[in-house]
Amino acid sequence: MHRYWQTSEAIQELVKDDQVRREVYLDDELFELEMERLWSRVWVYVGHDSQVPKHGDYFTTDIARQPLVMVRHSDGSVRVLMNRCAHKGAKVVSQTAGSAGKFFRCPYHAWTYKTDGSLLSIPLKNGYEGTSLDTCPAGRGMVSLPNVENYRGFVFVRIGKEGPGFREYFGDSLSSIDNMVDRSPAGQLEVAGGVLRYTHDCNWKMFIENLNDTMHPMVAHESSAGTAKALWADKPESEPKPMAIEQFVPFMSDYQFSDNMGVRVFANGHSYTGTGDVSLHSSYAEISGYEALMIETYGKERAQQILGTIRHNTVYYPSLTVKGAIQAIRVVRPVSANKTVIESWTFRLKGAPDELLRRTVTYSRLINSPMSVVGHDDLHVYRAMQDGLRASGNEWVSLHRNFSDAELTQDDVSVNGTSEISMRNQFRAWCRYMLPNTTKGE
Ligand SMILES: [Fe+2]
Repeated sequence: MHRYWQTSEAIQELVKDDQVRREVYLDDELFELEMERLWSRVWVYVGHDSQVPKHGDYFTTDIARQPLVMVRHSDGSVRVLMNRCAHKGAKVVSQTAGSAGKFFRCPYHAWTYKTDGSLLSIPLKNGYEGTSLDTCPAGRGMVSLPNVENYRGFVFVRIGKEGPGFREYFGDSLSSIDNMVDRSPAGQLEVAGGVLRYTHDCNWKMFIENLNDTMHPMVAHESSAGTAKALWADKPESEPKPMAIEQFVPFMSDYQFSDNMGVRVFANGHSYTGTGDVSLHSSYAEISGYEALMIETYGKERAQQILGTIRHNTVYYPSLTVKGAIQAIRVVRPVSANKTVIESWTFRLKGAPDELLRRTVTYSRLINSPMSVVGHDDLHVYRAMQDGLRASGNEWVSLHRNFSDAELTQDDVSVNGTSEISMRNQFRAWCRYMLPNTTKGE
């Protein structure tokens, strides 16, 4: 295991300030090391607490190769447990989501557990009398992860025992989640409908890098968004745009628009586009009655501040990407060096007009779903990179655009939107957590 990458030097040689070696996308051993180090040492998104509204409701997923179950406990809190029977290790919950009722029951020998993971019962318990079961890990039940944070409904976990604290890790980037939640007149979001799962046959980092890549939409999405724009080209400005046109056309904005959109990066790989007054979501039509509801709740000044913050994509490195302005998120679930599942979730703003949910659903369908046209454009170029990077003669991927030494010494930087700073920032975090001598994740 990890023959090549054991030393700090080997990791550091992969990432320069302004370029990275192709192995970071291609190498299977490096992928396993990413799971063991990066994905185990940092805060990773599990799910939203509205997915588990009642005691016993659960959602299962894998993070860093480990099977987890997020569950609502009887005290109302959301717990994250290792999905492993304390007895012989069988996954206790095999379905993706559902209700356990009052307790979990292992399908193999019927050991049962309370929803905080503690052992409830074992059949023929007297067979354990006089044994040391009580003092062994098996006697303590399913492992409940100590580092779980429910931030305004968004549940994150840090699998490793040691590592950065939640707020220390995300810092001011949490303001994008705040903005998305504050857009509800009730101050609450709710997952609407199911999840769209889209398998990408590419490395997970290609997806994450793309989120703040403002040099690609007018090129990669010309066939989809460009067609929509051409369809609408001869309509007068006063003609109300159908929602689909309204959402497609901004993808064809020019480079000047992208630069004006701006990008801001934070320590630990997080970033967002849309630091200024414009973003790909800023020209949508007003939804009748919504602003009035917001003013009623928050007062005029605060309501305008919330609605005037129209960020494009926020990256919560490495696992979650958020579109606050339209209440859609995408979650990164790496499978192997060249396979990643992207989960797309749609949210309802509690207390807001239904039209807002229609906008989100339309966006998820048109842009993010496996049936979308825009999402296919992106996947096409990710595949092209995954294939093209096998070519020899150039071992490096360029991230030079607008590089400046000044960015190396600051934790919170805002620059022009077409800079590749967000990708460089991601790799700086990647390198830091991938080093063997980083605070141990276990
Ligand atoms: Fe794209």
